[in-house]
Amino acid sequence: MQEKLLQLSSQARAAFLSASNRVELEDMYRTYLGKKGELNVILQELPKLPTEVRSSIGSIANEVKKALLVLYEEQKKKLSEEHLSTLEEKETIDVTLPSPKRTLGHFHPITQFKKEILDLFTYLGFQEFDAPYVETDAYNFELLNMPKNHPARDLWDTLYVTPQGEKYQPGELLLRTHTSNMQVRAMEEMKPPIRVMTFDRCFRYEMLDARHSHTFSQFEVLYVDTNVTMKTLKGLSDYFLKAIFGEKARSRFRPKYYPFVEPGVGVDALCVFCNGKGCKVCSFVGWFEIAGAGMVHPAVLKNGGIDPDKYSGLAWGFGPDRMLMLRSGIDDIRLLYENDVRFLEQF
Ligand code: PHE
Repeated sequence: MQEKLLQLSSQARAAFLSASNRVELEDMYRTYLGKKGELNVILQELPKLPTEVRSSIGSIANEVKKALLVLYEEQKKKLSEEHLSTLEEKETIDVTLPSPKRTLGHFHPITQFKKEILDLFTYLGFQEFDAPYVETDAYNFELLNMPKNHPARDLWDTLYVTPQGEKYQPGELLLRTHTSNMQVRAMEEMKPPIRVMTFDRCFRYEMLDARHSHTFSQFEVLYVDTNVTMKTLKGLSDYFLKAIFGEKARSRFRPKYYPFVEPGVGVDALCVFCNGKGCKVCSFVGWFEIAGAGMVHPAVLKNGGIDPDKYSGLAWGFGPDRMLMLRSGIDDIRLLYENDVRFLEQF
């Protein structure tokens, strides 16, 4: 038995020393020193030995085990160190590398444009005024001088909302077709001088195509005071265009009919691409229409509780989507409402 033990000892030593990595070493450990390992197999024989030799064999077995354990621990340490140093050589970590980029969201291009425009008019003393998307026929049409069956209502392809409950009759609720629904609401709430503006969504029953969308933005200002004239309107238009398109920008007025203004005008901007000479962008006109505007009709002032003999007002509404498209070279309005990040990332 003593011989067996010594033989095992030298076999195990050789095995531990020959292990080339930790996995192999653990394997060897199990083979020789594990629960069912060879040393234990030999030791199971111990009780069968005559008592006089039992203790001396026992102590030899202990010595062998101790020495093997020491060797095992040494080898384990050595192999770990070797492993680490090869790792360092092969897989160095460069701590100076920049960390992965974090993508931050940003405002939608229309919201960016909205901020830019609201800033321009805040500077002139205008304040934001919100009006609802779901609006009554009264504020969207009737109080704006368009009684039921007025033919001018055909200018706006209207989406009606089915009323819930008993407060409204069918046909009384709609999605506002323009931001002009804010006019009478603002006059009811405030006393002159009134300087308000709205930049927000409007809705029309439109076929979707590159230039039309059922949902789009309008920007509108309303200015009511004792000395508001067409001259003020022209000044505002030029101020606005110059700020957006640069010093060369010009506006011109053409007579245009809207029931809630008198006189009413279409505001054209000089084409910034050809300076009025005519090009593809402006369909060879030299100008393009950007806004509807005019002096608030006396009937509308009255509907808002304002005395038309004492006060006058101007209203000015335009479609910022088209303007943003022109300025940024966007050729399809749908891009502005689809929220495709590949498009949005470019702003
Ligand atoms: N609300 C009109 C439209 O949607 C534009 C407009 C606003 C015209 C203010 C005159 C005054 O076309």
